[in-house]
Amino acid sequence: MTVRIYIPRDAAALALGADRVAKALAREADTRKLDIKIVRNGSRGMHWLEPLVEVETVEGRIAYGPVKPSDLASLLDAGLLEGKAHALCLGGTEDIPFLKNQTRLTFARCGVIDPVSLDDYKAHGGLKGLEKAIAMAPADVVKEVTDSGLRGRGGAGFPTGIKWKTVLDAPGDRKYIVCNADEGDSGTFADRMIMEGDPFVLIEGMAIAGLATGAAKGYVYTRSEYPHAIAVMNEAVTVARAAGLLGPSVLGSGKAFDMEIRVGAGAYVCGEETALLNSLEGKRGIVRAKPPLPALQGFMGRPTVVNNVISLASVPVIMDKGAAYYRDFGMGRSRGTIPLQIAGNVKHGGLYETAFGLTLGEIVDTIGGGTASGRPVRAVQVGGPLGAYFPRALFDTPFDYEAFAAKDGLIGHAGITVFDETVDMLKQARFAMEFCAVESCGKCTPCRIGSTRGVETADKIAQGIEPEKNRALLADLCNTMKFGSLCALGGFTPYPVMSAMTHFPEDFSPAPLVEAAE
Ligand SMILES: Cc1cc2nc3c(=O)[nH]c(=O)nc-3n(C[C@H](O)[C@H](O)[C@H](O)COP(=O)(O)O)c2cc1C
Ligand code: SF4
Repeated sequence: MTVRIYIPRDAAALALGADRVAKALAREADTRKLDIKIVRNGSRGMHWLEPLVEVETVEGRIAYGPVKPSDLASLLDAGLLEGKAHALCLGGTEDIPFLKNQTRLTFARCGVIDPVSLDDYKAHGGLKGLEKAIAMAPADVVKEVTDSGLRGRGGAGFPTGIKWKTVLDAPGDRKYIVCNADEGDSGTFADRMIMEGDPFVLIEGMAIAGLATGAAKGYVYTRSEYPHAIAVMNEAVTVARAAGLLGPSVLGSGKAFDMEIRVGAGAYVCGEETALLNSLEGKRGIVRAKPPLPALQGFMGRPTVVNNVISLASVPVIMDKGAAYYRDFGMGRSRGTIPLQIAGNVKHGGLYETAFGLTLGEIVDTIGGGTASGRPVRAVQVGGPLGAYFPRALFDTPFDYEAFAAKDGLIGHAGITVFDETVDMLKQARFAMEFCAVESCGKCTPCRIGSTRGVETADKIAQGIEPEKNRALLADLCNTMKFGSLCALGGFTPYPVMSAMTHFPEDFSPAPLVEAAE
């Protein structure tokens, strides 16, 4: 009997040598005349164990990792094909605590199935949400998404159902679904993992959005730095079209929906929805003033849903299991689950999907296992480059949109970057300003000029030049940027800067250079 062996094609696994492992296994199996089938799945999200090799046995899937090509001979000798013991054996994949303790709704199939097999997708519950949506009136689909409490996972946390209702109610013979797969936030990879590990869930979510709002065309806007995601998405779209999941009559419904993958050059600001729409239209990626809202005048001036990958990929499970099922997870106004992306100086980095409500301390210390360096955690940046730095004193903050806002932070796209005690928070504040200066689209003065002045001011503080005056100037600049910027790039850069100054003031009083030189 053919034994199925899973080796991820996910970019993180590839970066750690998954292709070399797959090739070496194929070679070794050939020499030993073994009857195996290598399936290139997505990642399970346990990055410290990649490349993770799984073998399907009668007892379920058994995991081994991290595997190097040179490990294969000994693995096969030990009985890899029967899931036998070996120093790299991790036991049943689903029993690994990092995976076992998750609530995988959006990522239920990621790492489990062959990403480009529609049959595998269907065998694992795929398309049930779309089938239900087809049998419902568009307004009822929108209501279901609204009732689920789903909020945009791209950063702003805007209720998805309300956005869809605006597009549904907007007059217009042509409407669009635009999936924001730019994923520019440092330390985030959930969008990429879904596109590489379960592309059909995104296609299904976009098709549901199309049917619900009256849009017949969708675009996935991603960046050139995601070549593997682009390849998998294009492959999956071709398969979906051939199977009638996309096209003039979606699953025989008589309603049309088709989509394409578009690739941007990779500018952080092109993740901002209006700059994204400009880029998609072939224009320079510069922010548009709102109003008009994209929901009313978006792509090509038509009503457009712009949603993040995870928002759209969460819709199939909501439609399949019902709004109440999804809403039951979470806390406060943060309903459902969130794929945490744990990165930086951390022992167990990776993707962890869980209901909202875990504290930051539980996430960093228990799930992440503390720092990779073994030194104490000093700061955690939550929400990408525009997110605040949290000190240990705020580790009791629950992962919830409002709880983070109450502490002058944000959860954004749920990227969590861990730093140990060697981090210099003044340098991090300077980096935030520098990042903003480099990535600013230049449309408004507080961001374009303020960020450059911010870098200069941080440098003066570092050099011990009139520190008190320059600290006050930095805070004043932050205030101007926060309240005077047109979009959240300039508007939120003050979060990392001010949180660094507020929680780590000792780093903003370095010894003056003259003294240091003496
Ligand atoms: C500078 C900047 C960069 C952004 N980058 C992204 C991004 O990479 N991906 C994303 O989904 N949203 C990004 N956003 C948020 C989008 O503007 C928008 O709110 C989001 O795509 C809406 O989808 P959602 O409601 O599903 O979250 C960014 C916003 C700003 C201001
Ligand atoms: S805040 Fe920055 S990125 Fe946003 S519109 Fe103004 S200049 Fe452009």
